[in-house]
Amino acid sequence: MNDFVIETKHLTKVYGEQEVVSKVNLHIKKGQIYGLLGRNGAGKTTIMKIILGLTPITSGEVTVFGKNIKGREKQIYPRIGAIIETPGFYPNLTGTENLEIFAKLRGTASPHAVENALKIVGLHYKDKKLFGKYSLGMKQRLGIANAILHDPEVLILDEPTNGLDPIGIAEMRDFIKHLSVECGKTILISSHILSEISLLADDIGIINNGVLLEESSMSQLEKKNRKYILLQVSDTPKALLILERQFNLKDYSVQDSHSLRIYDTNLNMGEINKALVMQNVTVTSSGICNDTLEDYFKKITGGEGIA
Ligand SMILES: Nc1ncnc2c1ncn2[C@@H]1O[C@H](COP(=O)(O)OP(=O)(O)OP(=O)(O)O)[C@@H](O)[C@H]1O
Ligand SMILES: [Mg+2]
Repeated sequence: MNDFVIETKHLTKVYGEQEVVSKVNLHIKKGQIYGLLGRNGAGKTTIMKIILGLTPITSGEVTVFGKNIKGREKQIYPRIGAIIETPGFYPNLTGTENLEIFAKLRGTASPHAVENALKIVGLHYKDKKLFGKYSLGMKQRLGIANAILHDPEVLILDEPTNGLDPIGIAEMRDFIKHLSVECGKTILISSHILSEISLLADDIGIINNGVLLEESSMSQLEKKNRKYILLQVSDTPKALLILERQFNLKDYSVQDSHSLRIYDTNLNMGEINKALVMQNVTVTSSGICNDTLEDYFKKITGGEGIA
C-alpha cells in the first residue's frame, strides 16, 4: 500500500453530453492539506461529490485508505467528514442544539464531541444565539464543526471560505491548518482563489475544464515561479563558464543558447555585466523577473487567471 489516503484513477464524469471530469488522477497524502484549485465550473465539486458517493462515477475509480470505495462505503464514509453543500441546520435552534441533533443522528460516541468541535472552530458551546441569526462566517464554522463531530481522519471541504471577509478567511485558514498540523487530519480543500490555496496547501492540483493540468507540492511550484535574473548574452556556455568561475554561480537554468536564468538575485549585475563584456561576451539585456504563481496559473489555464 502507498501513502495516499485518497487516490483517483482516470476518474471521469459525464453529465449528458459534457465530460465535466476527464481522467483525473489525484494523489492525496496522509496528514497533508491538498488544495484543488480551479475556476468556476472546473469540476471541483463534482470530484468531491464522486469521492463522497454523492454522484455516481462514469468511469475510473476512487480509492480511499488504499481500497476501492465501491462496495466499502459503510466502512469508509464514517472515517470522512465533509462540507459540500450547506448542511440543513435548523434556524430556530442554537448552534449547539443543531450539532447535538447531528451527533445523535450519527451515533457519535464521545460525550464531549459537540463541545470539542465548537471549540476548534471558535464558536461558543451553549451560546444562546439561534442559527437563523448567525453571520455567514459563523454558519461556515458550524458547517465545519459538524464535519469534524465524529473525529474523522479525512476532511473534504468544498470552498469553505466562500463569501467570508478577509479576516474570516484568515481565521478559517488557521483552524484548517490546526486540524492538519495538531490533529493530523488529511484534508482535501477546493477553491478558485489561488492566494488562499497557496497559503494553506502542502500539495496542489490545478484543474481546468475537468482536466487536471498539474499536480505538485506547493514548494515545488513556488520554486518554479521564483524570482530570477534573466540574462541575454551572445554566448551562453561561455557566459556560464565566467559566471561559475568568477561569481561562484550554482543556481541557474539555461533557457537557450542566448538566455539563462540566474536564481541568485543578490548578485551584483554591474559586476556581472562588466566581467562578461571584458571577456567578449555581449550582454543584450539583463533584468530581474518575477513570474508569479498568478502568472503561471493564467498561463496554464489559458485565461485571465483564477484569483
Ligand atoms: N447535476 C449536474 N447536471 C449537469 N451538469 C452538471 C451538474 N453538476 C455540475 N454540472 C456541470 O459540471 C461542470 C463542473 O461543475 P462543478 O460544480 O463540479 O464545478 P466547480 O469547479 O465546483 O465550480 P464552482 O467553482 O463554480 O463551484 C459544470 O459545467 C457544471 O455545469
Ligand atoms: Mg463548486
